[in-house]
Amino acid sequence: MNKISIIGAGMTGATAAHWLAEREFADLVLVDVVEGMPQGKGLDLLEAMPVIGRDVNIVGSNDYSATHDSDIIIITAGIARKPGMSRDDLLKTNAEIVGAAATETLKHSPNAIYIILTNPLDTMAYLAMKKTGLPRERVIGQAGILDSARMRAFVAMETGVSVENIDCYVLGGHGDEMVPLTRHSNIAGVPLKEYIPADKLDAIVARTRKGGGEIVNLLKTGSAYYAPAAACAQMAEAILKDKHLIVPCAAYMNGEYGLNDMYFGVPVMLGRGGLERIIEYRLDDDEKAMFEKSAAAVKETHEALKSLVKI
Ligand code: APR
Repeated sequence: MNKISIIGAGMTGATAAHWLAEREFADLVLVDVVEGMPQGKGLDLLEAMPVIGRDVNIVGSNDYSATHDSDIIIITAGIARKPGMSRDDLLKTNAEIVGAAATETLKHSPNAIYIILTNPLDTMAYLAMKKTGLPRERVIGQAGILDSARMRAFVAMETGVSVENIDCYVLGGHGDEMVPLTRHSNIAGVPLKEYIPADKLDAIVARTRKGGGEIVNLLKTGSAYYAPAAACAQMAEAILKDKHLIVPCAAYMNGEYGLNDMYFGVPVMLGRGGLERIIEYRLDDDEKAMFEKSAAAVKETHEALKSLVKI
């Protein structure tokens, strides 16, 4: 059986375990700093397996040694921004948490592929790659599947068409400057622009860009976790089943799209080697301008990280 370890057993981590357990392709380990919590959630989920008929082993621990020989390490550990905390304070704290989680788990699982969820996503993936010294194939950030799924959900709500017929591609950094590519998005092969009136499509794009904030405002405490966790489960499945699935993810740029030494949301092929390929779309001038704006925002956070933490 494959083995997936999830670092951070909070809302996103535990929900990822739930989605993954249902898919029955890997045993699971939950690790968190809070004593008893990952053990309790792990045991509770394990006790659900007879009900849903899945043979999956699930354990919780406060110790990284439980993660030994993992095929995939998913990092969701981090803290949310607290009142009075600056963005830089949050960045520094989460960088310390993610940096330690990545380097410590690598000691126990030298062949693992990393999926990073902790925000700011692109920058935490960059940090994990630099701290571990792993090749870019083995450190991938989640975000594009989630942002695209939000757009797909909004298109389905607008049109009444099955979500299965709706393909949307949201690229760029995981922030307000993300790039929903309406020209490449379609409903059963029909471009969105031909299917949906321009004003309605603009509203969908705007809602997609603010999708994370919309959930935060509704929840009041905490941020989205069902959809981010589902996206992460899809990535893990594509990797371990060697599916060669093309999905948008945050990947280290090595000249693609004219970008270098940064993480950015682009279409990638996922298989047993992790990130197997980056697909480069031909962009028009408007799309290029959106990419540049989004890349500048991500670069700014990367630079802030470098001024706060030694990497
Ligand atoms: N090692 C392991 N776990 C840690 C550590 C650490 N050093 N520091 C914090 N944690 C744990 C917390 O104890 C908590 O259980 O990380 C967990 C985070 O869970 P939540 O607070 O519920 O946050 P969640 O909603 O899951 O979001 C986690 O994912 O989508 C992103 O923006 C989100 O960055 C955030 C992350």
